[in-house]
Amino acid sequence: MEANFDSARFRQVLSHLPTGVVVVTGVDATGAPSGITIGSFVSVSLNPPLVGFFPGNASRSWSHIAEGKGFCANVLTSDQEELCWRFAREPEGGMSARFDGLEWTKSPTGMPVLPGALATIDCSIESVTPAGDHSFVLGRVQHLSTNETISEAMVFYRGKVTGAMPA
Ligand SMILES: Cc1cc2nc3c(=O)[nH]c(=O)nc-3n(C[C@H](O)[C@H](O)[C@H](O)COP(=O)(O)O)c2cc1C
Repeated sequence: MEANFDSARFRQVLSHLPTGVVVVTGVDATGAPSGITIGSFVSVSLNPPLVGFFPGNASRSWSHIAEGKGFCANVLTSDQEELCWRFAREPEGGMSARFDGLEWTKSPTGMPVLPGALATIDCSIESVTPAGDHSFVLGRVQHLSTNETISEAMVFYRGKVTGAMPA
């Protein structure tokens, strides 16, 4: 059936669904770090522990991360807006400049961990399934960590960054 809306309307309506924000990081075949801002990250299964996200088919970062065996989801706090846009846009110095000036470390499986992340979810890639103009990446959780400091979580709502904090 033909849709009675265009892509702009689709985006505009779906922007009413608030999402958490993660930067999915990984390394390519040469070991170089890569990262992409993702709002479609989701918990999938408890036993076995599975999570997933949907990178677009045009994503350069995902094509690099897919060369490795895993990825790490870095959950952003509401004061990490700079990181949110840094990993959603192409920096002046090119894609490799996304990690410039960041004191990132490595997760137990060797994936980049961003400083100040609220939590990290370190995964191996279980499967990649086509989903329209995106893919569904299913990850098997290998390691988990949370930040000692309780911070406000980043929430993306109607195209803008806001925050969520339990009372
Ligand atoms: C809050 C937020 C959420 C996003 N969520 C997704 C997502 O779930 N999937 C996706 O493919 N791109 C998403 N994007 C867009 C990518 O971050 C952006 O297109 C990025 O530059 C990907 O391109 P690259 O992989 O070529 O760097 C999101 C951007 C923002 C700001």
